Amino acid sequence: MKDQYNRPIEYMRISITDRCNMRCMYCMPKGVIKQTHEEILTYEDILQLCKVAVTLGITKYKVTGGEPLVRKGCLDFIRKLKELDGVEQVTLTTNGVLLEEYIEELKACSIDGINISIDSLDEDMYRRVTGCEEGSVKEILEVLKRGCNLGIPMKINSVLLKETKEEIYRLAEIAEKYPVDIRYIELMPIGEGAHLKGLEMEMALKLLKEKYSDLNPTKERRGNGPAHYYTSKQLKGKIGFIDAISHRFCDECNRVRLTSLGILKPCLCYEKGMDFKALLREGAPFEKIKQEMEKCIYRKPRAHSFLDKSQVTEYKSMNEIGG
Ligand code: GTP
Ligand code: 5AD
Ligand code: SF4
Repeated sequence: MKDQYNRPIEYMRISITDRCNMRCMYCMPKGVIKQTHEEILTYEDILQLCKVAVTLGITKYKVTGGEPLVRKGCLDFIRKLKELDGVEQVTLTTNGVLLEEYIEELKACSIDGINISIDSLDEDMYRRVTGCEEGSVKEILEVLKRGCNLGIPMKINSVLLKETKEEIYRLAEIAEKYPVDIRYIELMPIGEGAHLKGLEMEMALKLLKEKYSDLNPTKERRGNGPAHYYTSKQLKGKIGFIDAISHRFCDECNRVRLTSLGILKPCLCYEKGMDFKALLREGAPFEKIKQEMEKCIYRKPRAHSFLDKSQVTEYKSMNEIGG
């Protein structure tokens, strides 16, 4: 379906849990109260909403969190979602910690892509950024390579932080050896990110052009999200940027978000959304849910407003929204 600004909406990001086994400095605060099992949507609830969404033309789904793999039954859910009539793509965004255990099964479910967050290749810095004492980026890289060898399209997400400026080159070097896309993400003023300083995409691009002189933009689409990509003959993968702060990409937005509590959020930046858990729990019929979903998506705002902080009405952290 199209929204009020004529944008085709075809992609839904589903946060299946707010829980996470990491505490990235830009994402969730330490020691937060977790949502209870009773409060969050069951997998059956989510699948029911996806069945409705498919009839509105939403055929691409991202499973995210928190960390999606910490929720029991995630793989089974992904399999069922993949098998739903009309679903064209299911991808996963994860911190990678639990991926080793599930990667073969994900391949067996024909997952369409996996994005892993890696902000630093230096073990000390990795632990500092992720707030995870036992974290090991070496292990995450191993599973990333396994994914590539299994033929799963793999991407790295790396938030552009002052602390990790030195990592920009080192991360790009991964794409010299493997067909992995490295996406640099501008820090968004959401969650803990509101208290930190990030770096601009243009700065990262300038640095990268010093190393890869033939780095040039490509119009090729490499997923369903907002990243735009650059290619170089020296790279097997692509370099991507998610530059929500310096270049607003809202005109081409194609997505909505379903939070673990069952709120359908038409935009990342605004708190307003529609409570589908309430509708499901009162036993609303398919057609009623469809009508409400259509209304909610139609009213999607034109753009986010990160640059005018008074307009940002979203106070939840990224783990509660799903990124
Ligand atoms: P693919 O393009 O299919 O790989 O997926 P994706 O980039 O949508 O997924 P991923 O979960 O890896 O998200 C990467 C980053 O993009 C996260 O930091 C998200 O918060 C951010 N992002 C995704 N959609 C939006 C959006 O609509 N607005 C903003 N501002 N950020 C977004
Ligand atoms: N700004 C930008 N990206 C963020 N992520 C989490 N919080 C923020 C933020 N404040 C990213 C993570 C992960 C993706 C789902 O969202 O790095 O890759
Ligand atoms: Fe967990 Fe991802 Fe948030 Fe890091 S960014 S704390 S890995 S949900």
